[in-house]
Amino acid sequence: MDLFIFLGPAGSGKGTQAQYLISSFNFSHISTGDLLRAEVKSGSEMGKNVQSIITKGDLVPDKIIIAIIKGHLSEVSKDTSIPGIVFDGFPRTIDQAMALDSLIKSMSLNLKALVQFDLSLEDSIIRISGRQVDSRNNKVYHKVFNPAPKDAHPYLVQRDDDSEEKVRYRFEVFQKETAPLILHYRSIIYQIDCSKSIADIHEQMDQLVQSEIALGG
Ligand code: AP5
Repeated sequence: MDLFIFLGPAGSGKGTQAQYLISSFNFSHISTGDLLRAEVKSGSEMGKNVQSIITKGDLVPDKIIIAIIKGHLSEVSKDTSIPGIVFDGFPRTIDQAMALDSLIKSMSLNLKALVQFDLSLEDSIIRISGRQVDSRNNKVYHKVFNPAPKDAHPYLVQRDDDSEEKVRYRFEVFQKETAPLILHYRSIIYQIDCSKSIADIHEQMDQLVQSEIALGG
């Protein structure tokens, strides 16, 4: 099974484009952010432990993240009808990347590309400050760039970590902890021009998936 890693700062569009791959290519999507927020919402012990870390914008300890990924990856990879899996927001540290390398080997998976979403801090703030999430299904919208349909309006929420101050902080954490992964994955980087519209980036996604799947994987 093919894997794609989406790497980029807060608001760069990882979740939006992952949704596109699900609806257009029947991909599966593993978002560590969504999984952690679900734990918080459920009131589980793990959720209680990670809530303040997420709200502040710090990284949740590697041990917790790697355990979550192991569980989900072994479940999702059983479904042979899906052409691939998108990792959205994982890995975020070198230790997470090394744990993923071992999982890929032991499960005979194909890591096809690290898709690099590049965005300035200023644009990240504009996108995050207008973001709205449908609490029923985690679908992501934007007040101006991607308005939600009317029937979703009663269910739209803003994330706890979506203030300007926290986006600035998350951006710093990204530069320090996660951007160095670009070196780790340098041979498989596929760069996305995130200044384009959502529809333009869908086209870049089409090209990526079609070329990678055509290469036979
Ligand atoms: P996570 O949920 O992964 O947040 P993030 O990486 O900061 O990314 P976002 O979800 O904020 O942005 P996105 O790139 O998906 O953008 P989106 O598509 O929504 O993580 C949250 C927290 O969980 C972390 O801070 C950490 O505490 C913890 N965590 C998660 N994973 C972890 C890990 N592996 N290790 C440790 N801790 C972890 O788009 C944003 C907005 O812009 C939307 O409104 C959208 O409609 C709009 N938009 C998208 N594309 C465009 C475009 N091209 N033009 C105009 N608008 C656009």
